[in-house]
Formats: sequence, C-alpha cells, structure tokens
Amino acid sequence: MSQTVLITGGAGFIGSHVANELLAHGYRVRVLDALASQVHGADRKRPCYLHEDVELIRGDIRDADVLDRALNGVVAVYHFVALVGVGQSMYQIEQYTSVNNLGTAMLLERVAKKRIRKLIVASSMSVYGEGLYELPSGEICTTAGRTVEQLRCHEWEMKTSGGQVLRPLPTPEWKTPALASIYALSKFDQEQMCLITGRAYGVPTVALRFFNVYGPNQALSNPYTGVLAIFASRLLNNQRPMIFEDGAQLRDFVSVYDVARACRLALESDAADVAVNIGSGETITIRQIAERLAAVLDKDVEPEITGNYRVGDIRHCYPDISLAKKVLGYSPAVTLELGLEDLAAWLSEQQAHDNFQEMQAELAGRGLVV
Ligand SMILES: NC(=O)c1ccc[n+]([C@@H]2O[C@H](COP(=O)([O-])OP(=O)(O)OC[C@H]3O[C@@H](n4cnc5c(N)ncnc54)[C@H](O)[C@@H]3O)[C@@H](O)[C@H]2O)c1
Repeated sequence: MSQTVLITGGAGFIGSHVANELLAHGYRVRVLDALASQVHGADRKRPCYLHEDVELIRGDIRDADVLDRALNGVVAVYHFVALVGVGQSMYQIEQYTSVNNLGTAMLLERVAKKRIRKLIVASSMSVYGEGLYELPSGEICTTAGRTVEQLRCHEWEMKTSGGQVLRPLPTPEWKTPALASIYALSKFDQEQMCLITGRAYGVPTVALRFFNVYGPNQALSNPYTGVLAIFASRLLNNQRPMIFEDGAQLRDFVSVYDVARACRLALESDAADVAVNIGSGETITIRQIAERLAAVLDKDVEPEITGNYRVGDIRHCYPDISLAKKVLGYSPAVTLELGLEDLAAWLSEQQAHDNFQEMQAELAGRGLVV
C-alpha cells in the first residue's frame, strides 16, 4: 500500500510539480490549498495542470478542521503555503503574517502530535538579503548593504566606505540572514518554526531555500510572482520587460523539475534538521535572462532598463549548492537552455493579462519604488 504525503499549497506552481514527481515515484498525494484568487484567478477552480490522481482538500491552512482532515493518515508533509509577493508583503503586512506565520503555527501544533517521517518546508533565498561578498582585501563580507543615498545616486554595486566595489560570491547556508521584507521575515519564520518544532518533537525536518524557480504552471497574471513569469507576461503581450536598476543583478534560475527532484530527495534522504540551498549552479544577470526569454519566445523586444529601484531589492544573490549535493545527493539536471525552451513551449499555449503597471503604480504610490 503506497504512502500518503500531504503538500500544503500543492495546487500552486512548485507544489503541482512536486505532486507529479511523488506520484511518479509511487506515493499517494494529498493537497491542501485555498486556491487563492491571485494565483488561481477569480473562479478559483481546480487547476487543470494538477494531476488527476491528486486528492485536493480545498480550504484555508488556518482552518483547524481542514488541517485535521488534511493530516489524517499522512507519512510526510511538504509545507508550501505562502503568500509570495515581496513588494505586496510590504503593505499587506497583516495578511502575509497571518497566512505565512500563523498558518505555519497552526500546522505545526498538529504535526507535533503526529508520528510523521519527514517535514519539508519551502524556504527562500530571500532570507539572505544580499548574498556573500569579498572585500578588496580578500576578506569575506556577510553584511553588505546599500544606503538610500547610494541608491538615489544610482550607485548600484556594494562598496566599501572608501568607494571600492565588493565582489559577489556564491552564498552558502551559513551566511547571516538579512531580512529585507515582510515576506523574507515570514519565510525565515516558517523555516525556523519548522526546524525548531521538528527538533523538539523528533520530526526530521528539512528547509529548502529555493532560489529563482521557473517553469510551466507559474501564475502569469500574478504581478507579484517570480521575475521570469513577470517578464513572460510582458513579452506575451508584446510589451518590453521592465528592469529595475541597470539589469546587472546576478541571480540563479533553477528549473522547477530540478526543484521537484530536490524535494523528493529531501523526503527520501537521511537529511534532517538542516536548511539547504536549491539552485541550478548557473549564474546570469537579470538583463541577460530577459533577453534569453525574448529570444526563445521569438520576440524582437528589448528590455527597458528603468533605473528605478525597489525598497528592499537585492543586488546580487546566487547559491553555493554544495550542501544540497552532500546531504540530498542533489545535482541539477536541467540546463537554462533546455529549461527556457520547455518554458517557451508551455508559454506558447498561454494567455497572460499583463498586470505589471498596476503593481508598479501600487508600489510607487506607497513610496516603495523610486
Ligand atoms: N517560486 C519561487 O521562485 C520560490 C522561490 C523561493 C521560495 N518559494 C516558496 O515556495 C513555495 C511555493 O511557491 P510557489 O511559487 O509554488 O507559489 P504559488 O503561489 O504558486 O503557490 C502557493 C499556493 O498556496 C496557496 N495558498 C495561499 N494562501 C493559502 C491559504 N491561506 N491556505 C491554503 N492555501 C493557500 C495558493 O492558492 C497557491 O496554490 C512558497 O512557500 C514560496 O514562498 C518559491
């Protein structure tokens, strides 16, 4: 008899792929999801991409009865429920704290009473804030940041007080967190709440710090979602992707198929009581990714470099993935080239309402984009 695994937030982008991965490896999958309208549209229907063998419990993670039903008889839990907009979290503070923090608290009070084999929580690169840097002296710097004055002068790079530019390095898990948004704070809370509870109650727990995840099923009309989905919805509407700062920000885009595999490995490996980076190991600038996406979509559209900046935005952050290799046996298999081709094939069948301008106006009205 196969074992049942619960994925909270499993009707969303990453969860739906983890469900496919687990079903393909002989697990039964149950999903608890509220089908939030910002992700699933106003009609909030079961998404057609969700595998038909997934048992969907539709409800809010903060509803005790729904949680009890969802946890009944499961051997492991993936906790993916979150509101995911960094910018939006800076004005819907109550809502973000309620779903992300209180939702996790309610889940954990119940998990603590169960004998489950593994708890896996979706954490995020956002907990790092700025990545790791090297000072001109060769010393490592874990606390780099930019002042508002610097940003106003469009001095985008990290600098010493003497004006020398710092060199970005791959960020390892031991880098001190620097929480630059309510979203980042809530992700750090989610991971630490899960690790602390897991430790106290003997539930082996793994926090996976995802970097920029991309692939099919990402909500294209949600302007608060990942940068590649936002660029895609602009390009599908023949609009130029809008880039903050100068576009030279370094990121790591990891295929959702690799992320789904990492999630299964976290369940099946002995890893416990640990937070682990999940990325592709490839680094690219925001400008380059916008150009690569336009090319695979066959759009002759240049990105627009706005020179604006968003409060709390990160200059460079990309992961050191050696711990994932060591404790999960994870190594990325999907190159950016293949991943973008696969994304383009999916995008060619999608329609996206481009909500970027509304999002920009919303943030600017609050002084969060300058
Ligand atoms: N996509 C990325 O690049 C990325 C990067 C780092 C971390 N993460 C984390 O991974 C997880 C999954 O992200 P995603 O991109 O799949 O997001 P998503 O928005 O596609 O999925 C989240 C799901 O949670 C559901 N949900 C929201 N509020 C709920 C509530 N109150 N009760 C029950 N369900 C609710 C939504 O309906 C949605 O289906 C999140 O925890 C996110 O913070 C994602």
